[in-house]
Amino acid sequence: MSLREQKEAVHRAFDVVAPTYDLLTGLNPGYHRHLRISAARLSLRSTDAGPRILDLCCGTGASTEALRAIYPEATIVGLDRSAGMLEEARAKTSLAGVTFVEGDATDPRAAGVEGDFDGVLMAYGIRNIPDADRALANVLDLLRPGAPAVFHEYSVADSPARALLWDAVCYGVIVPGGLVTARDASIYRYLHRSVRDFDGVGAFEARLARAGFVDVWTGELDGWQRGIVHSFVGRKPR
Ligand SMILES: C[S@@+](CC[C@H](N)C(=O)[O-])C[C@H]1O[C@@H](n2cnc3c(N)ncnc32)[C@H](O)[C@@H]1O
Repeated sequence: MSLREQKEAVHRAFDVVAPTYDLLTGLNPGYHRHLRISAARLSLRSTDAGPRILDLCCGTGASTEALRAIYPEATIVGLDRSAGMLEEARAKTSLAGVTFVEGDATDPRAAGVEGDFDGVLMAYGIRNIPDADRALANVLDLLRPGAPAVFHEYSVADSPARALLWDAVCYGVIVPGGLVTARDASIYRYLHRSVRDFDGVGAFEARLARAGFVDVWTGELDGWQRGIVHSFVGRKPR
């Protein structure tokens, strides 16, 4: 199957691993802390009503919980294409009050999600979208003028050493972990392949700029993810 075909169908693979997804991410040191760092990199100011934030590809709500932790007064909309992942997110009492929507992050408006948002977080999402440029154009469209977006994502193409470390982590830890927790590692083999294929840091920054984002920068994360997971930050022009 081509990578594009895998991306088109990946939400169904997430349905399968949804009940064990939190178990595996919980074993990944830094996973939740890094999401909170990326959420904080939206740098949203407190307003009386609280900021309105869109969490694209929210999955079981790990990224949504990070947003809730950093912006407790925010109004949050989480969107994902996997009914199974959303079922897990909706069951979390910590996420009471969040509006969860089932839909394709390529075009959130088609699922009834309307702007203007004060910020958008897309954690481990953009790499899964077959038409990333279209998705970025729609993110920009959903932001109010001047508002930021953070794309928390793996990117190893610019560093052969990081790419080799990624291979080792996937085939030494993540794929065996998937076999143990979900008895099915196909989604984790897809994870390896899709990350290896994804833009390098420079290419993704250029993609953001081409889409119309300004003040584009990339934030580092620590731990084994240093140089592997990044917060890509951009802003809609005022
Ligand atoms: C690796 S999980 C990340 C979940 C969450 N953001 C987190 O940080 O833990 C990726 C999520 O992207 C979702 N996804 C993949 N393609 C999508 C698409 N085209 N539209 C919406 N969601 C999609 C999957 O269903 C899955 O829940």
